[in-house]
Amino acid sequence: LGISALRTPRIRARLQPAFRAIARALNLWLRNASYERVLRARWDALVDLYAEQALRSAAFEERARSMPAGELRAAGVDAEGQNLRRRHHQLPCTAATLRERIRVISTICSRDAPILLAGDDDMLSLALAEAGFTDVTALDIDPAVLDQIHIEAQLAGRSVQIVQHDLSQRPPAAFVRDYALVVTDPICTPDGVRLFLQGALRMVTPHGNVRVLLCTHLASQLPEGLEQLEDLLNANDLVIERFLPGCGVYPNPRRLMRVVFGVLWFLDHTCLRSEGITLAATTPKYFVSDALVLRARGPQASRLPRATVLEGVSPQAVRS
Ligand SMILES: C[S@@+](CC[C@H](N)C(=O)[O-])C[C@H]1O[C@@H](n2cnc3c(N)ncnc32)[C@H](O)[C@@H]1O
Repeated sequence: LGISALRTPRIRARLQPAFRAIARALNLWLRNASYERVLRARWDALVDLYAEQALRSAAFEERARSMPAGELRAAGVDAEGQNLRRRHHQLPCTAATLRERIRVISTICSRDAPILLAGDDDMLSLALAEAGFTDVTALDIDPAVLDQIHIEAQLAGRSVQIVQHDLSQRPPAAFVRDYALVVTDPICTPDGVRLFLQGALRMVTPHGNVRVLLCTHLASQLPEGLEQLEDLLNANDLVIERFLPGCGVYPNPRRLMRVVFGVLWFLDHTCLRSEGITLAATTPKYFVSDALVLRARGPQASRLPRATVLEGVSPQAVRS
């Protein structure tokens, strides 16, 4: 893998400026401030993140060989396989992931429970309606996402309620309901998780029974982000009921793949091969994420121990 070599001072001195340059270019190109975190992050944390994703992606590609193509296709993707909309950080998951989410949701609430999708480029609302869930609301900032859900629901003769709303804003009172479950797939940064989780909770009338299916990649939060996540859960009186590592898979957008992984491939072949090192998976096809099921903290539950959030991300697991 060459992962431990990435930590040696000589390799680090060569690669660190290149990684920072890629992040700077992505910030400019995509106007996506989340890459600024790469500019500030500790090198060891970035190496852990890269290793974790490389290993997960390689393991998934192995499994993908025996999966039908339809299972690997993402919603909201055009005929050329490009993600239609990146301007709101859209990154739709695979059809297999949608099925897994429905399986998990079926263990959390009944078919008639009110469910809110806070951001739905995955089109989970349509899949839920098709699976027989009768009270599904899709909320999104992007009218194009909502139009697609509305049209496809109509064509399929299913009912999905549509709400256009920016989760960073306070919702109109008419949008707030007694949802039993909120599903959200935030932008994969500490700020993104905060925005989506707090925005989603503002949509729910306080009743203490709400569950949240928070789909996010924990390692992408980096160590500081995990501490912030723990504080965020405590501040909102939420505890982790279940941790579902690796349960979300997203085909990497081809345009991003070509640029980011093209540069990684170049680094691999120029800087590293001369040192006798090969990076694994410099062109990962899939981004493999996690999910947490959250519930309101009961009167008897204590504050979240830090290990609860950190467990399972375990950078040590990918150090070998
Ligand atoms: C944030 S994206 C998924 C991000 C992906 N997990 C990642 O890390 O790149 C999920 C959905 O949220 C929607 N979305 C983005 N910003 C939003 C906002 N401020 N309010 C409501 N929905 C938003 C997007 O349109 C998209 O359909």
